[in-house]
Amino acid sequence: MEIQSVLLIGAGLMGRGIAESLLRSGLRIFWYDVRQEDLKKALMGIEKSFQKQIAKGRLSEEEARTCLANATLLDSLESKAEVQLVIEAVSEKLSIKESLFQTLNQICDEKTIFVSNTSSLSINTLGRMSKRPEQFMGMHFFNPVPVMPLVELIRGLKTSEETVETIKGLVAKLGKTPISAPDFPGFTVNRILVPMLNEAYFCVMEGALPEDVDQGMKLGCNFPMGPLELSDFIGLDTILSVLEIMHQGFGDSKYRPCPLLKNMVEAGMYGRKSGQGFYDYRS
Ligand code: 3HC
Repeated sequence: MEIQSVLLIGAGLMGRGIAESLLRSGLRIFWYDVRQEDLKKALMGIEKSFQKQIAKGRLSEEEARTCLANATLLDSLESKAEVQLVIEAVSEKLSIKESLFQTLNQICDEKTIFVSNTSSLSINTLGRMSKRPEQFMGMHFFNPVPVMPLVELIRGLKTSEETVETIKGLVAKLGKTPISAPDFPGFTVNRILVPMLNEAYFCVMEGALPEDVDQGMKLGCNFPMGPLELSDFIGLDTILSVLEIMHQGFGDSKYRPCPLLKNMVEAGMYGRKSGQGFYDYRS
């Protein structure tokens, strides 16, 4: 089956990036978020990004209009959704995802595939909650989604071969590259990346300057962004939640979140999105 229409749930950082990639590849999207202002803001962000691409000569006005016309913002999830795929990119809370799946099961055809952009929750658990484990899998994008070429594909024990093949086809249509990752907390990339970021927080807690840590990893390891700049970009709340899930899931103290990270999240310092993280973005 070739995916042509998608119901996308969530208009946060990842949801917006996923929407932009889907639209750029000519897919039709129906897009919903409980926070309607976020949904409108996210669409405006995509319009801005298209304007930049027009200015760089990579997209014509006409193409941008066609892509944007393929987006329908939904103000509720009540009416029947005639889509082949649902992508959920909502908060990393099992209870929120479970109640979303309940709603989706009432409005979607039984053949519709559901995928989750979760960065660490169990695909087998989510698959069971979705009540369609054969048509369920993880599809983990990376930020900024329009730029990053990778998609991690995580199948549950019950995911059908047909579902995997359909999603691989979608990844190809998006011009991205898939890797398969096992269904364990953090999958593959976050399992390696997030403990490294956590170690950078310990360095800062023990007295290193964020600028020095970032400069060190950029100049010493050729990282495009230092670990603290990258953390502010991803969102410290998101990283804390991934670490907590890995810590709980593996029961291994090496994944314990750095106390400095916990304090910063407690203080509402989430990084770029809140204006303050390891760096200040308020001016
Ligand atoms: N949306 C769309 N396009 C963007 C963008 C965004 N948010 N940010 C940058 N771009 C584009 C720019 O327009 C530019 O395009 P062009 O080369 O075609 O003109 C290109 O990306 C490069 O941007 P810049 O020249 O402004 O800046 P950089 O060269 O520094 O690149 C970067 C920016 C691509 C973000 C680079 O710094 C980078 O690769 N950083 C690391 C990102 C990373 O590690 N992401 C993974 C995070 S982990 C994750 O997402 C998993 C989750 O579960 C936590």
